[in-house]
Amino acid sequence: MTTETAAPAAPSRRTTFHPLTVSAVRRLTDDAVEVTFAVPEELAGQYDYLPGQYVALRTTLDGQELRRSYSICAEPRPGEVKVAIKRDLGGKFSTWANESLKVGDVLDVMSPTGAFISKHKMTELNHPEQIDVAGQDVFVAVAAGSGITPVISIARTVLAASDTVRFDLVYANKAAMDVMFLEEIADLKDKYPTRFAVHHVLSREQRISPLLSGRINSEKLTTLIDSVLPTADVDEWFLCGPFELVQLCRDSLAERGVPAEKVRFELFTTGQPARPEGQIGRPVEVDPSADNFEITFNLDGLQGKVASPTHARESILNAALRVRPDVPFACAGGVCGTCRAKVVTGTVEMEENYALEPDEIEKGYVLTCQTRPTSPAVTVDYDA
Ligand SMILES: Cc1cc2nc3c(=O)[nH]c(=O)nc-3n(C[C@H](O)[C@H](O)[C@H](O)COP(=O)(O)OP(=O)(O)OC[C@H]3O[C@@H](n4cnc5c(N)ncnc54)[C@H](O)[C@@H]3O)c2cc1C
Ligand code: FES
Repeated sequence: MTTETAAPAAPSRRTTFHPLTVSAVRRLTDDAVEVTFAVPEELAGQYDYLPGQYVALRTTLDGQELRRSYSICAEPRPGEVKVAIKRDLGGKFSTWANESLKVGDVLDVMSPTGAFISKHKMTELNHPEQIDVAGQDVFVAVAAGSGITPVISIARTVLAASDTVRFDLVYANKAAMDVMFLEEIADLKDKYPTRFAVHHVLSREQRISPLLSGRINSEKLTTLIDSVLPTADVDEWFLCGPFELVQLCRDSLAERGVPAEKVRFELFTTGQPARPEGQIGRPVEVDPSADNFEITFNLDGLQGKVASPTHARESILNAALRVRPDVPFACAGGVCGTCRAKVVTGTVEMEENYALEPDEIEKGYVLTCQTRPTSPAVTVDYDA
């Protein structure tokens, strides 16, 4: 993803957790719930967001702190944050949320963040009516499963913002019963019959069109891109789903010469199993007399310092959490971007990056959950 000149007014505040109360839980499918959090007036400014952004939720289950990211599924609306959580088979947080989360529960909710937003049209947080849509604008989204959550928020917002916007959605699921926001998608079709089109692809059900049955593979995608979607006219593509599907779409669009800056993508997981060290930091013992990297970091205007044994090969995030438990992170897997900081001095190496855009990397930003020092002293700035 790269940023175009007229970038949106993305929030510059630092992401912080606040306890918010669940005000509604709505079942979307057998395996998905929509959860609404009430945002008290005094915190309103902390929870402004652009369609496509996500929040991290934090809770403790069976004595283990869990943090998970969930995209906001509603168009910007002050006073509440709505997410949709799909049960991941064997998944700790999503299973708990689907089975036990109820109205009145209080969870720590991080202020919204994320770059899966329309880069050339959104102008104001929480003011979708101020979207800058001049002339005809064409958006296409390819979503799978819970990947619909940020997409439905973007679709509703841009369609409502101008009566010249066209939005095509390719939505892949296993079966009709798995389709999240079925009614909302049907409502969009009724409301915008000539401007919104949806192509439901079901991998385990036979639809009338063979194109819309079975898994989206390279051949199916080629037909969709070349003959069903308004590919030549698309201003922005939004891809959200499993790693393989997003990668397939990105490759196919690149092969057709679609410039990367028109393609936004969001991954919910890299498909890699969870890291053994879990999410709250791997325990590392520091021997001050041994060989250590010296890591300095700025966070909320305060400077922290921590030593990191060179043999431990730990991430900057892991080390920083030893001295400041409020260092921001969510996925610890290079996917969400919450742990972003700018390298100010020293050199580093970053392992995985599924969240930063090329221009951010050029400016020196790294994902600290994926980054290790390669020079004896390193300074990073979380406030930059
Ligand atoms: C930016 C972002 C936005 C997201 N938005 C949404 C959203 O809107 N809706 C949504 O539903 N999800 C979303 N997610 C995904 C969400 O954050 C969680 O990853 C998801 O809900 C699973 O969490 P969990 O605790 O239930 O599963 P985990 O307990 O984290 O397990 C995940 C999967 O890994 C398997 N697993 C766990 N440990 C191991 C192991 N050691 N070896 C092998 N397999 C293992 C589990 O069986 C499960 O299938 C988003 C993620 C990101 C990064
Ligand atoms: S914490 Fe998610 S990318 Fe680092």
